[in-house]
Amino acid sequence: MLLKTVLLLVLVAQVLVLENGLLRTPPMGWLAWERFRCNIDCDEDPKNCISERLFMEMADLMAQDGWRDLGYVYLNIDDCWIGERDDTGRLVPDSKRFPHGIAFLADYAHSLGLKLGIYEDMGNLTCMGYPGTTLDKVALDAQTFAEWKVDMLKLDGCFSTREERQEGYPKMAAALNATGRPIAFSCSWPAYEGGLPPEVNYTLLASICNLWRNYDDIQDSWRSVLSILDWFVKHQDILQPVAGPGHWNDPDMLLIGNFGLSFEQARAQMALWTVLAAPLFMSTDLRTISPQNVNILQNPLMIKINQDPLGIQGRMILKEKSFIEVFKRPLSGDTSVLVFFSRRTDMPFRYHSSLAKLNYSSSRIYEAQDVFSGDIISGLRDDTSFTVIINPSGVVMWYLYPIQKMQITAQKSQVPLMKIRKF
Ligand code: GLA
Repeated sequence: MLLKTVLLLVLVAQVLVLENGLLRTPPMGWLAWERFRCNIDCDEDPKNCISERLFMEMADLMAQDGWRDLGYVYLNIDDCWIGERDDTGRLVPDSKRFPHGIAFLADYAHSLGLKLGIYEDMGNLTCMGYPGTTLDKVALDAQTFAEWKVDMLKLDGCFSTREERQEGYPKMAAALNATGRPIAFSCSWPAYEGGLPPEVNYTLLASICNLWRNYDDIQDSWRSVLSILDWFVKHQDILQPVAGPGHWNDPDMLLIGNFGLSFEQARAQMALWTVLAAPLFMSTDLRTISPQNVNILQNPLMIKINQDPLGIQGRMILKEKSFIEVFKRPLSGDTSVLVFFSRRTDMPFRYHSSLAKLNYSSSRIYEAQDVFSGDIISGLRDDTSFTVIINPSGVVMWYLYPIQKMQITAQKSQVPLMKIRKF
């Protein structure tokens, strides 16, 4: 009887697990919405309107300027691409702005080694009022996207009832699977139900979606970044365990390269999103982005950490009275990352700590690499006091790895704390 029950449970679990095998690490790419919104005025603003020209220009740069080779492969369309449904009910892109159609754009992206993402909405209309995917159109739209060779679908949730979403999201997941084309599925569903249980069933979500928006839209401001971060931290006991290979929490796009963040804040968003194992969707103008912002987004160690194969989401582990917060994410091969984040608004803060205070094992000696400066801090024992200098609304980010096991206590004092400038 017990064996039968176990077998049954295994079977149920297998049926529930999303079978598309995609996004074993968080997706990376470019998404139009935060920076380019619903600008459809191609007469007045031809370079920046939502059109095939914009996506082709971004695709060219993603391939030319090193983005693709670092992993930023998804080129994702958001709202405002749809023209209408034709007589047979099929979606048709706006003919003036996408004259060659979406299949052409997908081919173009693929020819450059990129993937194309598209947007629809589980409801009567998209959030900006374009034709949505009603329940009767789910299968047809999935089929259309597959025929166009689309690689990801973001399915928004405006203009629908709770019941329609409850039926529609699993239905779309099944319809996408039925097309036979691997299409990553990004669900905005939880954001429309308040983002928390019992309204949101994260076990179910993980079985049908590769990523999901839990919370509000990001806006081009530091305040917006903080409000999202605060919400994720407040609910980390719920959110942290539900993320993993193939199914990620999505705190929304990176603002880096736009107008609202200072240099320190841009670094902070990158570091914090990486510690949260978040998707890295840039939404910025790659034609005009500054070298400084390119460096933040193209930091190879940062990307390696974000893409760690274990896929464990990090958490805030310490909140100091001094307005310093420490985040930690365990990584594969006994490595880990620490982010020291300052919420201060006065001056660079000298924060004193030790690995023991941050729950590291006493039997090992660690080395840390500063992810931004490249500095190596060697010979860190659990009781070694160290100081990090954190700028206001900035971060210090350490990638940590054990360098040797402690044999005898006498050795302890022989290991000096070294700081080696690496570059
Ligand atoms: C919602 C989503 C955004 C964006 C817009 C488009 O607000 O959360 O990410 O897709 O719709 O209208």
